[in-house]
Amino acid sequence: MSVLVPTMGALHKGHQALIKRARSMSKQVVVSIFINPLQFENAQDIAQYPRTAERDIQLATLAGATEIWMPEYEEIYPDPITKIRASSIADLYEGASRPGHFDGVVTVVNRLFEIVKPEAAIFGEKDFQQLQIIRSMKSAVEIVGVPTVREFDGLAISSRNIRLSQSGRVSANVIYRAMVAARLAPTIAIAQEIIDTTISTDFGFKCDYAAIINEDDFCLATDTTKQKRAIIAGWIDGVRLIDNMRMGA
Ligand code: PAF
Repeated sequence: MSVLVPTMGALHKGHQALIKRARSMSKQVVVSIFINPLQFENAQDIAQYPRTAERDIQLATLAGATEIWMPEYEEIYPDPITKIRASSIADLYEGASRPGHFDGVVTVVNRLFEIVKPEAAIFGEKDFQQLQIIRSMKSAVEIVGVPTVREFDGLAISSRNIRLSQSGRVSANVIYRAMVAARLAPTIAIAQEIIDTTISTDFGFKCDYAAIINEDDFCLATDTTKQKRAIIAGWIDGVRLIDNMRMGA
């Protein structure tokens, strides 16, 4: 069976964890590297996206990739492009801040699945909303989520972290600290209060959203029998950071 690890390149330890997971499932691991223009809001973001092909090949190979596929635009999007609309979760949180983003993600993921025809595909829990939206595509491909890889202080590994200033990098772990502090709170309201208080103490962090939601529908958590997750996004030094953590024991 073949397992696909879709990426946009700029690989790091987080991607390597996805590739290792794929390799634990199969001897045939395809890593795709394609910077998908459909999921960016503007041309400047695409232009600024890091392109590190040689290093990507090294890191992917070391982690166990057996095939690294870097398709051209025309291969993914033959004319005309058939765009796919993401599920309703896509309008919330990350989707509200980045309109059209998740439609671009599901459109490219659908094309990657059509071309590679993998039995399974691996995605990081770091982009938890993306992971749930891809799960809701209900494709025949098994979708496997892999826990977030973190720096020594808990900051989720991301290719954006290198854009943080020295002081920004120090305060960036406020997101992780807030979620850890809230994780075992006795009620959802107290957990939310802990998160809000913790992030408000860091003046460098400009919060976009900090919420506790049901993992299945991304509605604000009220039902204690459902799996809950804290999701946080915001900016430090103008760099957008997002993270999440399951709440409860
Ligand atoms: O998570 C990403 O890197 C991208 O959104 C993905 C899934 C590779 C689609 O372009």
